[in-house]
Amino acid sequence: MMKIMLVGSGGREHALAWKLAQSPILRELIIAPGSDAMANIGRCLPVSAEDVDGLLALAKTEQPDLVVIGPEVALAEGLADRLAEIGIAAFGPSAAAAQLEASKTFTKDFCQQHNIPAARSCNVEAYAEACAYLDTLPSPYVLKADGLAAGKGVVITDDLDEAKQAAKEMLAGQFGAASKRLVIEEFLKGEEASLFVLCDGKTAVPMVGAQDHKRAFDGDKGPNTGGMGCYSPAPILDAAMTTRVMRDIIEPTLHGMIAQGSPFCGVLYAGLMIDNNGPKLIEYNVRFGDPEAQVLMRRLQNDLLPALLACVNGDLDALPALQWDPRPGACVVLATKGYPGTTPKGSTLGGLVKAGQDTDVEIFHAGTKQAPSGEWLANGGRVLNITALGDDLGQAIAKCYQAIEHINWPEGFCRSDIGWRAL
Ligand code: AMP
Ligand code: GLY
Repeated sequence: MMKIMLVGSGGREHALAWKLAQSPILRELIIAPGSDAMANIGRCLPVSAEDVDGLLALAKTEQPDLVVIGPEVALAEGLADRLAEIGIAAFGPSAAAAQLEASKTFTKDFCQQHNIPAARSCNVEAYAEACAYLDTLPSPYVLKADGLAAGKGVVITDDLDEAKQAAKEMLAGQFGAASKRLVIEEFLKGEEASLFVLCDGKTAVPMVGAQDHKRAFDGDKGPNTGGMGCYSPAPILDAAMTTRVMRDIIEPTLHGMIAQGSPFCGVLYAGLMIDNNGPKLIEYNVRFGDPEAQVLMRRLQNDLLPALLACVNGDLDALPALQWDPRPGACVVLATKGYPGTTPKGSTLGGLVKAGQDTDVEIFHAGTKQAPSGEWLANGGRVLNITALGDDLGQAIAKCYQAIEHINWPEGFCRSDIGWRAL
């Protein structure tokens, strides 16, 4: 029986907590910092998910058997390494391995070195260099801040002058140190999908594919966000395509990381662009996607805890095969109007009980707070994640929207076209 410490406070962590709580080998779940919505699943402790020293001190006191790290910031700052130094196991990569997400220039160099298919690109540190490379590319242009920028560090534009202006602003510190260096790359056409892969350093086990919706508004319009909804499985990531991604992208990555002396342990999230020539890597993340994890946790039939432990203990090859609910799953994100810009807090979320009544529906909370009266209040940009399983994808999505009909929240919005590509 195990004591688990989960790090994070969003919808992804609510879903991970919900799933971990079903584990027959769980003794106690503590969550740092968790949220009001998670308080009935685990003991929430007020340490920020980005406060590496605070999390370390908490782990020292609480002595969990395993720390499960949800978000990327603490990973990039070496939380897993520091826990290892005090003898506490962590699910999540070392800071060196987390560079696959935390440094896009690292990953581009890595892909080139290991022949991993990706967009043609150039790493730049100076405006003149950026302009010179942009002049060689066809439109549209893709510019990315090197470091972590909470999903906001990517600019895509058809206009060369605009691209140069964006390079100038980013290099001048638009995203602080994260944009002191940029990746400039060719625009890839095709269909996007994400594959989640469990890794123990040497063995990789694909979980399942999902498709996210990054843009804020219907028709894939508006600014990029953390994700407005998703579904799984992704029809384009069928068994044959998954095998190909594992062979051409994931396996070379695992071997390359071993060769660099920083084997990857945790969940590797490959953002892919797939066209007739096959899959290309758009980016890596070193953690579960949010809101993809919400749907993955609904569909995973195995106990999650042994799977996470196998990554940590290096015996993934002995893990029983992952089983997925054959029913597709979907998630629709409800966000405060104004997201991904700054948003007001404190508006009332009505109708949640009724919205969650269908047994195929599960509502995870991203940014909410509970008032002393018991009523739920919005407390962030992305606020609620409505998930559902259905006999087919259409039904899963319809069930999400039926649940949302019951939610009374004039200050919120959602996309009304989640899953359009697959339907
Ligand atoms: P990233 O943070 O690298 O995943 O980029 C955010 C989003 O921008 C991706 O999900 C894609 O939709 C888009 N994107 C990034 N790079 C490219 C590219 N080279 N070609 C086309 N779209 C891209
Ligand atoms: N949903 C995209 C992400 O987690 O980065």
